[in-house]
Amino acid sequence: MNLTHRPRRLRRTASVRKLVRETKLTAADLIYPLFVVHGIEIKEEISSLPGNYHLSLDLLLEEIADLVKLGIGGIILFGIPQIKDQLGSGAWDQEEIVQQACRQIKEEYPDLLVITDVCLCQYTSHGHCGAIKNGYVQNDITLENLAKTALSHAKAGADMVAPSDMMDGRVKAIRERLDQEGYQDTAIMAYSAKYSSAFYGPFREAAHSAPQEGDRSSYQMDPANSDEALREIKLDLEEGADIVMVKPALPYLDIIRRAKDQFNTPLAAYNVSGEYAMIKAAAQKGWLDEEKTALESLTSIKRAGAEIIITYWAKDIAKKLAKDN
Ligand code: PBG
Repeated sequence: MNLTHRPRRLRRTASVRKLVRETKLTAADLIYPLFVVHGIEIKEEISSLPGNYHLSLDLLLEEIADLVKLGIGGIILFGIPQIKDQLGSGAWDQEEIVQQACRQIKEEYPDLLVITDVCLCQYTSHGHCGAIKNGYVQNDITLENLAKTALSHAKAGADMVAPSDMMDGRVKAIRERLDQEGYQDTAIMAYSAKYSSAFYGPFREAAHSAPQEGDRSSYQMDPANSDEALREIKLDLEEGADIVMVKPALPYLDIIRRAKDQFNTPLAAYNVSGEYAMIKAAAQKGWLDEEKTALESLTSIKRAGAEIIITYWAKDIAKKLAKDN
């Protein structure tokens, strides 16, 4: 055959494939979610997220020592409180476990990027992300509580706060409060296009945050919508978000790409608990190679346009990437 173009020439050897590879995943792209609990010497595997743990602060710090060595992009912290109430007031308690963890981590590892998830659902007795009145999650009352929560994290030393509640106007409320109190340099990573997704199931077991009644579809987005995601992102940027996020990631790669094309802003994607658990379960059955599938998933998310990826594989993949180099 007299073929001018033979694309296989650039696929023939590992070295040439490496040379022309467009998307290169690095440990610095990855953010690792961590679940911190009260107590000491606690390391309990989360049954719905094998390989992830509820950690008390002492053991969390040991885990972080490893992550720092691996050059991971950062961590996002979720606190598991002992007490819940109607409003979720533990969320902004300066002595709650997330605030304690931020203080301690920043003291020992000042260079590690520490992000905190700002939401009320772990702290409310009903499990919704805001205050409830007449069976409906109230937007404007909730904003004040979210602002207080973000401020308590900033005071504890968080580099970045990540509101995940999907109330209208929360980025503005948080930005204003942080600025008023002298935390102009605390960044906001907004969960801007956060869908009402069934893929959060395993996380809710990990965070004890499933809604007791109803679901989150009056505040999280309808999976059928795409233009709405762009409107949400635009609003968050106007309100002062520094980084915007699409969540989940794999079922929403089209949204990631549209967001990347439309806005020249750092873009994050959350490779959520269900995306992880699916592959983990299939791998346990011997149906998939976990490492290869994870690597392909994360590379695809980056290729779609997200330069920051929150993933439960962060540590495993960072280790693999270090080994490959
Ligand atoms: C809190 C929050 C959730 C996740 C991150 N922050 C759960 C939810 O909205 O129900 C999900 C993360 C995951 O599934 O990995 N609102």
